[in-house]
Amino acid sequence: MLVVSNLHCYYGRIHALKGISLHVKSGEIVVLIGGNGAGKSTALKAISGIVQAASGTVTFNNNDITHISPDKIVMAGISHVPEGRRIFPRLTVEDNLLLGAFTRRDSSEIKKDMGKMKELFPVLANRSKQYAGTLSGGEQQMLAIARGLMSRPSLLLLDEPTMGLAPVIAQDIYRQVIYLNKEQGLAILIVEQNARIALGLAERGYIIETGRIMLEGNCRELKQSNEIKRAYLGKDYREVWE
Ligand SMILES: Nc1ncnc2c1ncn2[C@@H]1O[C@H](COP(=O)(O)OP(=O)(O)OP(=O)(O)O)[C@@H](O)[C@H]1O
Ligand SMILES: [Mg+2]
Repeated sequence: MLVVSNLHCYYGRIHALKGISLHVKSGEIVVLIGGNGAGKSTALKAISGIVQAASGTVTFNNNDITHISPDKIVMAGISHVPEGRRIFPRLTVEDNLLLGAFTRRDSSEIKKDMGKMKELFPVLANRSKQYAGTLSGGEQQMLAIARGLMSRPSLLLLDEPTMGLAPVIAQDIYRQVIYLNKEQGLAILIVEQNARIALGLAERGYIIETGRIMLEGNCRELKQSNEIKRAYLGKDYREVWE
């Protein structure tokens, strides 16, 4: 479904992505794991067209989308829920959701989808007229995901959706993410710093370090990898896995 091949991205002279390749099959959950500054967000931004690729290609459903504008990429079926939520604080919850549907013209269907989002995240239903900036961190993340879903994507890009949230809220969010994948067949590419959460969640994963994919594979195998244990789980990994 999504194929990224040998992608290079720069910010001025900073070579942020040094030829990454990855893919997501339809209906799959895939994680991209890496430390601060590894290039995870840049990878998602390059896929959604926010950052220009210097070379390499991104194809989606066999179409080359490498140099397509972000709005057209949304229309093609990719939705990006950015790092740090980026909801519009001075708009209501409902207006934030409506903005997620900015590429659509089917107003009665949009209305139905708003209802579905409120079922998926009931907390949003009680707060639809509230300014989004007054929501808690967890609620803002739910709103950000719901807004992302309003374009009816077939691939959702999630950038650290549980960053800074209490474990119980993080669990809630991931429960809905798994529901969207299992029940609705949505393909999801998730960026996570927390290797333990990430490897428990997805089927396949990629480890990125300083702009390069260092390891990839089935999450069960990745969990067993000594390199991952050393780099991401530290001395206490036994407690984490066993
Ligand atoms: N707008 C920008 N201008 C210049 N350099 C940038 C910009 N955005 C990112 N970078 C640099 O590109 C590299 C990759 O950044 P990126 O945000 O993709 O990392 P990340 O893996 O998402 O990190 P984090 O886990 O901290 O979010 C870093 O060295 C970063 O400093
Ligand atoms: Mg990031």
